[in-house]
Amino acid sequence: MTGAPLCIELVAVDLAQAGGEFASAAERARAAGMAAEAGERWLRVRSAVRRELGRWLGEEPGRVEITVALGGKPGVRGGEFSLSHSGGHLVLAWAAVPVGVDLETRVPAEPERLAVRFFSAADAAVVGAADAAARGEVFRRQWVAKEAALKVRGGGLAGQLERAVCRWCGDEVVGVECAGESYGTQAFRLADGTPGAVAWGVAGPATVRWRA
Ligand SMILES: CC(C)(COP(=O)(O)OP(=O)(O)OC[C@H]1O[C@@H](n2cnc3c(N)ncnc32)[C@H](O)[C@@H]1OP(=O)(O)O)[C@@H](O)C(=O)NCCC(=O)NCCS
Repeated sequence: MTGAPLCIELVAVDLAQAGGEFASAAERARAAGMAAEAGERWLRVRSAVRRELGRWLGEEPGRVEITVALGGKPGVRGGEFSLSHSGGHLVLAWAAVPVGVDLETRVPAEPERLAVRFFSAADAAVVGAADAAARGEVFRRQWVAKEAALKVRGGGLAGQLERAVCRWCGDEVVGVECAGESYGTQAFRLADGTPGAVAWGVAGPATVRWRA
């Protein structure tokens, strides 16, 4: 007997177009303690997260209760989600089982050095073997897949990245193994080329679709 196919919904938010209208009083108070630009950006992220969770849950954005587990993984009653924000982008993933999502707008200046520091020897070797011009992209492809996989389980993430190993299909990362756990991953690109990945922890493929 097979289970229902896993369906993951993704939504991308352009933070330049987002306002802070749905942020809670506590979030506003926290933002007030940050540097002006960082606080304002954080409010736009939180507000957009509330709006999108509210759409999934059928609730008023301001009434969505977001919890934070030990280690930092955010949660909400009624579904599983993950979020990532980088530069002007925010992406959320939503599913019936734990998911993780990550994106990265920055291209590392020294991908080989970072790969040796943060990746397993085999994955660092993949970065080193790529054409010099492609190394930054090969690094990011692995980085987002690993971060997405680590976010599925949550908990303390420090030191875990080094233990995560990519599963490849050609030059595509299709999964990550970490600490005895196996994750499926699927890469994506935003309209401006920013790479990202979504990950899940149950066996089998997932149908990943974008919500308008
Ligand atoms: C926590 C971490 C996942 C954040 O990732 P990031 O790329 O800096 O930022 P992203 O926007 O992609 O993700 C941040 C969001 O992930 C979520 N998050 C934080 N901790 C999490 C955890 N343990 N599990 C799942 N999600 C988590 C939060 O919602 C956070 O957003 P918020 O702070 O605005 O609420 C990452 O910094 C980390 O610690 N990775 C561990 C791997 C490692 O050792 N990295 C070395 C970096 S020097």
